[in-house]
Amino acid sequence: MGEKKDKSNILIAYDSRTGNVEWLARQLGYPMKPVQEFNGEEVQEHIFLMTHTFGKGSITKATETFLNRYAGNTIGVCVSGDRRWGNLFGLAGDKIRLAYDIPLVRKIDVRGYPSDIEAVTGWLQQWKDNAE
Ligand SMILES: Cc1cc2nc3c(=O)[nH]c(=O)nc-3n(C[C@H](O)[C@H](O)[C@H](O)COP(=O)(O)O)c2cc1C
Repeated sequence: MGEKKDKSNILIAYDSRTGNVEWLARQLGYPMKPVQEFNGEEVQEHIFLMTHTFGKGSITKATETFLNRYAGNTIGVCVSGDRRWGNLFGLAGDKIRLAYDIPLVRKIDVRGYPSDIEAVTGWLQQWKDNAE
């Protein structure tokens, strides 16, 4: 019983510079914590990562540091970007998927639309259902 519940505990780790990712993370209704506040300690929860694309299609330094420690705890990633960046739109998400083998659940244009929130919420719910 207890074990089953633990299996589906989700914590959102987020990396937000100008607030968009933090806003998105808040819409999902799970406990959340900035990637900068993970200090190498063990985590019991399953982590869902929300981050953004920076530089020219790059993963941010803070997200990279986080992943180098916690990729193994991370069940999926959602990335925010801006379509005005063309080919570089949300590229950090593709890079994370390839480099760390983490499912890329959704690329979101800035703060996205209700359909983006629904897609991510639905993915997390399905993940929980499968874990139980
Ligand atoms: C300096 C800078 C570089 C960016 N580079 C990209 C990029 O290469 N690709 C992309 O899709 N978005 C890019 N963006 C857009 C951000 O990823 C987008 O605004 C995101 O929502 C920011 O999330 P945050 O508000 O949580 O920090 C860039 C933004 C800035 C300020």
